[in-house]
Amino acid sequence: MDLNYRNIDWGSVWTDQMNKHLDSGNKKECASVWEEKESAKRFWEMSLRDEQKRARDVISKLYISPESRVLDIGAGPGSLAIPISEKVKHVTAVEPSKGMIEVFEDNIAEYKCDNISLIKKRWEDIDVEKDLDGNYDVVIASFSLGMPDIRKAIEDMLAVASGRIYLYWFAGINSRDEHFMELWPRLHGTESYSKPHSDILYSVLYQMGIHPNMEVFTFERSEIYESLEEAVDKLSDNFSLENDHQRTILEEYLEENLKKENGSYIYDASTRRVRIWWDTQNN
Ligand SMILES: C[S@@+](CC[C@H](N)C(=O)[O-])C[C@H]1O[C@@H](n2cnc3c(N)ncnc32)[C@H](O)[C@@H]1O
Repeated sequence: MDLNYRNIDWGSVWTDQMNKHLDSGNKKECASVWEEKESAKRFWEMSLRDEQKRARDVISKLYISPESRVLDIGAGPGSLAIPISEKVKHVTAVEPSKGMIEVFEDNIAEYKCDNISLIKKRWEDIDVEKDLDGNYDVVIASFSLGMPDIRKAIEDMLAVASGRIYLYWFAGINSRDEHFMELWPRLHGTESYSKPHSDILYSVLYQMGIHPNMEVFTFERSEIYESLEEAVDKLSDNFSLENDHQRTILEEYLEENLKKENGSYIYDASTRRVRIWWDTQNN
């Protein structure tokens, strides 16, 4: 075995892990999960919680001014793009999913944002010369790195960035991944693989000669269900249940593994996350 890590192509490690992830589990691509307007709306409503605390935290750490031009890749329903647009000159948002685009367009109208342009494409389908008007002072991709070729995705970000790039992503296996890896084989007879995490992302960047700053934090969230039946109903879609036998397996698993408090079932949806950023002019 060759143990020289310099010989490892980390971009290929990311691609391999992303493909394994997409071929396993409920086989939904990162972008296609959000095709349904209802799911997109739920995501938007979640982002409004605690007076948009998550967006406020993100924005407080962005290097922006009223003159900044920002590129938001995988903008979703505008959870970051809309509040950012209030503080900068212009936001270009890239978003491919039908449901997210619909909710985003509703939000642009509701919040009367006249400084956001929306490009309805996947990042990997963007022609950086033709579709974009670089250079952007800030490029941000927040939980949207569903790109199989991450190295090319970052090269394209570098091609249009004149200031800082911010990537938000997952740092390590969270409890949802654990449930999936444990349950999926029991339900469907095949393995489940998690997405590639920040360890691989950091190695890709390092191999590209980028030495970014990183901050790891926990995003606390839990879902509370009044009964086991409600937990099974709400989670059955995630696990692509097709028959009663699978429902029983899920029921037994949740009964055994969910925390119980005063008769309610608590699903821990907390995630370890990472903020990665660097100045493209000084790295
Ligand atoms: C979890 S949402 C995050 C939305 C927003 N960035 C935020 O932090 O609130 C992920 C978004 O990334 C988008 N996405 C996934 N893969 C993408 C790709 N290859 N190119 C562009 N957007 C992508 C999805 O459609 C989805 O809207």
